[in-house]
Amino acid sequence: MLQTQFVSTNASSDARIAQHARQLSRQLQMLGERLFPPTSQKSMKTFTSGEAAQIIGVSDGYLRQLSIDGKGPSPDISSTGRRSYTLEQINELRNHIATVKPKDALTYLPHRRHGEKLQTIAVANFKGGSAKTTTTIYLAQYLALQGYRVLAIDLDPQASLSSMLGVQPEFDLREGDTLYGAIRYDADRRPLKSIIRKTYFAGLDLVPGNLELMEFEHETPTALVEHKTTADDIFFKRVGNAIAEVEADYDIVVIDCPPQLGYLTLGAVCAATSLLITVHPQMVDVASMSQFLLMTSDLLSVVRKAGGELNHDFIRYVVTRHEPHDGPQAQIVALLRSLFGEEVLAATVLKSTAIADAGLTKQTLYEIERGQVRRSTYDRVIESLDAVNGEILASVKRAWGRT
Ligand SMILES: Nc1ncnc2c1ncn2[C@@H]1O[C@H](COP(=O)(O)OP(=O)(O)OP(=O)(O)O)[C@@H](O)[C@H]1O
Ligand SMILES: [Mg+2]
Repeated sequence: MLQTQFVSTNASSDARIAQHARQLSRQLQMLGERLFPPTSQKSMKTFTSGEAAQIIGVSDGYLRQLSIDGKGPSPDISSTGRRSYTLEQINELRNHIATVKPKDALTYLPHRRHGEKLQTIAVANFKGGSAKTTTTIYLAQYLALQGYRVLAIDLDPQASLSSMLGVQPEFDLREGDTLYGAIRYDADRRPLKSIIRKTYFAGLDLVPGNLELMEFEHETPTALVEHKTTADDIFFKRVGNAIAEVEADYDIVVIDCPPQLGYLTLGAVCAATSLLITVHPQMVDVASMSQFLLMTSDLLSVVRKAGGELNHDFIRYVVTRHEPHDGPQAQIVALLRSLFGEEVLAATVLKSTAIADAGLTKQTLYEIERGQVRRSTYDRVIESLDAVNGEILASVKRAWGRT
């Protein structure tokens, strides 16, 4: 099944589709350059002392006292005496407070402890446009804001996650600068550590993607036929093996999968300790998701028979672009809940132009100032995103055995 999906038997169609892909990619690149010129650098907002206190979990007064006493990082102080902190400084504060309050260290510095295994969350669905990338970036940023060490992996040759995170896949990357560099079959394979980039968002690192990822889809059938791999580095273990190299540096890895069920997605699903399946609650999307689930289960059973380990800590359906007042959508969400129960997150991501617009300007609502979007909209949408991400984090903590 995999073979027919990725290695077309019709060479001329191959060439045509490749041509279309190149044309489209060029167009998208031009559009992107207009909206976000390659010379522009992404930057991150700063946090008011109130916001900083809230995300750290202390009172504003306590932060003020630290600042007066000259303990911890020095915030920027405006002419009117307002303090503001960068996310780096917030993380320094977390370290500082965890040291002075060792009994509550885990509250302030929630990094995983001995015995808590790295959590790798794959965001998948072969339905295009089901908000995988949006879900991935908001989750990754939310976790970084909470003080976790997060690695985001862009497994999609379209690389929308990379460009959202400030890496221009067509300009900034050389050969081997994507995950492909760490999972390829030849001697040019590189350590994943040398591919990972820091982003402008403190605590969030990135393995970028671009079209070269497709090489893995092309080369895997040959590698299988030519017995280039062993049971330990067979195609579905290669993503996981690469992640294992950098395990000590992170608490949580989030993988944005491409909208196909290819070797890359299978590798991600096998590397993952948990799965998020994004669902746009419309009949066509749910029908397509049902195909996705059937194919995934078929492929996973093949992988399991070939020695793959598939014990996910949790599988969750995330309803996205939700319009709660839409009757047909409500029916579909109710159907999903009745079928999958608690595996459907209770919270949903609301459909909002604030999210779509933020996507166009390559910014998320977590990285812009509250005043940049109408307050009522901003608060409503952030609340929905926080609720979804909070539920996912709660599942991660349960997997770690925390209460
Ligand atoms: N909650 C939302 N409200 C409004 N628009 C949204 C929302 N979530 C995602 N979108 C928009 O929907 C489109 C598709 O989202 P996204 O790129 O995240 O999907 P995807 O599953 O990653 O797509 P692909 O399959 O192409 O990788 C984007 O334009 C995005 O900005
Ligand atoms: Mg995507």
